[in-house]
This record gives sequence, C-alpha cells and structure tokens, in this order.
Amino acid sequence: MLVVCFSATGNTKAVSEKIVEVTGADYFEIIPTEPYSESDLNYSDDGCRANREQQDETARPSISGNIENIEQYEVVLIGHPIWWGMEPRIMDTFMESYDFSGKTLANFCTSGGSGINTSTENLKALSTEANWLDGKRFSGRADTDEMQTWIDSI
Ligand SMILES: Cc1cc2nc3c(=O)[nH]c(=O)nc-3n(C[C@H](O)[C@H](O)[C@H](O)COP(=O)(O)O)c2cc1C
Repeated sequence: MLVVCFSATGNTKAVSEKIVEVTGADYFEIIPTEPYSESDLNYSDDGCRANREQQDETARPSISGNIENIEQYEVVLIGHPIWWGMEPRIMDTFMESYDFSGKTLANFCTSGGSGINTSTENLKALSTEANWLDGKRFSGRADTDEMQTWIDSI
C-alpha cells in the first residue's frame, strides 16, 4: 500500500502521517515544482494562484520528483485538501502521471467543511480502469482512531 499526499499548509500531511502509522504503508508526498506561497493560497484574493488554477480546468501544476516502481503497489490512498469544493489541480497532474489500471484507489481529504464527493468523482474520471473505494473527509484534527475506522471500512 502507498499513501500519497499533497498538503499546502500541513493539515492533510498530518492526517496522512497517521494513516501511514496505522497501515504501515509507504509514503509519497506530492511536492509542487513551484511551492505555494502564502499569497498563492490567499483565496480571498480573486487572482491568487490557487484560485486561478482552480478556475482553469486545464491547469496542471507540475510535480517535483516521482514514484519509483508504482507497479509494486496494489492499493494507493490519495490525500489532498479541498480547494473551492474540489481537489487542487495538481492532483489531476498526479492522476495523469501514472497508470493505475487494476489498482485499488481511494482518496481522502481535509477541508474547512466541504465534502469529498466532487473530488472523488473528478479523480475517478482520470483513472477509470482502477477499482475505487469510498473516499473520506477528515478534519485536520482527526485522530488515529478515525483513520483506523476508515481503513477498516474499506
Ligand atoms: C485556495 C483554497 C481554497 C479552499 N477552498 C475550500 C473549500 O471550498 N471548502 C472547504 O471546506 N475548505 C476550503 N479550503 C480550506 C482547506 O481545504 C483546508 O484548510 C485544508 O485542511 C488544507 O489542507 P492542507 O493544510 O493539507 O493544505 C480552501 C483552502 C485554500 C487554500
């Protein structure tokens, strides 16, 4: 099993680390080639980078580094924050970078309150040959028991 995580401000990373703790999975962090600064993430500014990317469905921010031997993983859990109700566009870059055919996938997220369903549908559409399990939203403060419950349920 592999846990993959993009986290701009650390919340999803904290959840991902707990999932790694309860599963013993390998871990890969999606690091943007161009890191997001505070002003890039200032969503009250219409023109900030994150908002511009989310408004552009063709935006594919690039990722620094890559997963070696993706073939060895049967299950990949994919973590991300919610930006404007959905996955950050860099997650679409990630989905399009590998062949997930035949693998079992599930996404999880942290958010201020928005749910995960739109993101799950969007990610699924980019890897239709994978077997998708139910995704799960966590609050940034979720504890390991919540991770364990989710893992057990899938
Ligand atoms: C550009 C941007 C847009 C966001 N949009 C939403 C949203 O639509 N709904 C929501 O509940 N939270 C939203 N948030 C809050 C994040 O989802 C939340 O803080 C998340 O835990 C951040 O995860 P991270 O620390 O791993 O980056 C947004 C944050 C940013 C930076």
